[in-house]
Amino acid sequence: MGMFIVIEGIDGAGKSTQAKLLAEWFEERGHEVVLTKEPTDTAFGKLIRKLVLTGGKEGIIDGARISHEAEALLFAADRAEHVAKLIKPSVEAGKIVISDRYFYSSLAYQWARGLDLEWLIDLNRFAIRPDLVILLDLPVKESMKRINGRSIKTEFDKIAELQKRVRENYLKLAERFPEMRIVNALASVEDIHNDIVALVEHELLKK
Ligand code: TYD
Repeated sequence: MGMFIVIEGIDGAGKSTQAKLLAEWFEERGHEVVLTKEPTDTAFGKLIRKLVLTGGKEGIIDGARISHEAEALLFAADRAEHVAKLIKPSVEAGKIVISDRYFYSSLAYQWARGLDLEWLIDLNRFAIRPDLVILLDLPVKESMKRINGRSIKTEFDKIAELQKRVRENYLKLAERFPEMRIVNALASVEDIHNDIVALVEHELLKK
């Protein structure tokens, strides 16, 4: 059996950078790594980007956006394919799977949207539990500074208030899901990477 590691956090927390560094760390140690993300790059992920995340003509951000429930179901559908086609087979084949976001994103963001947390947890029950979830925790003020430089912004990027709720939700989720570990994302890229490696080594040693 391989290992399944998830990186979570609000927009601008540095998830993709750290996921990449962790993937390289494993590769240098001879492991086969699958670096992946949600929303995925499949047709489902593209639909999400079109209906939920993109601004402009086809976007639903201002005004007639899709219902929160439909949004949660789309993220869950994308995830169901992700688990069945990539995550589960890869872990079973002994690979190290590292995912930038997973169902904890749905819990944190769609809960912040006003959906019922227990319904969201039920909806995502099919999703296999990771061995470790790294929560990159960052004050919203700092995350807003970082994401301001990005060209494409999601609706969440624009609304600091929502980001604040999402951050609080993540911290509450970390109390509920024992696989979640909080890492201070204000530190330097190198220090954060070292913290993550220490956590991973601890998890690997446990096995
Ligand atoms: P993001 O990681 O920013 O993707 P990209 O950088 O490729 O655009 O994710 C897009 C947004 O989707 C982000 O604001 C978080 C949100 N999101 C949810 O609301 N629910 C979910 O289940 C997932 C996976 C993401």
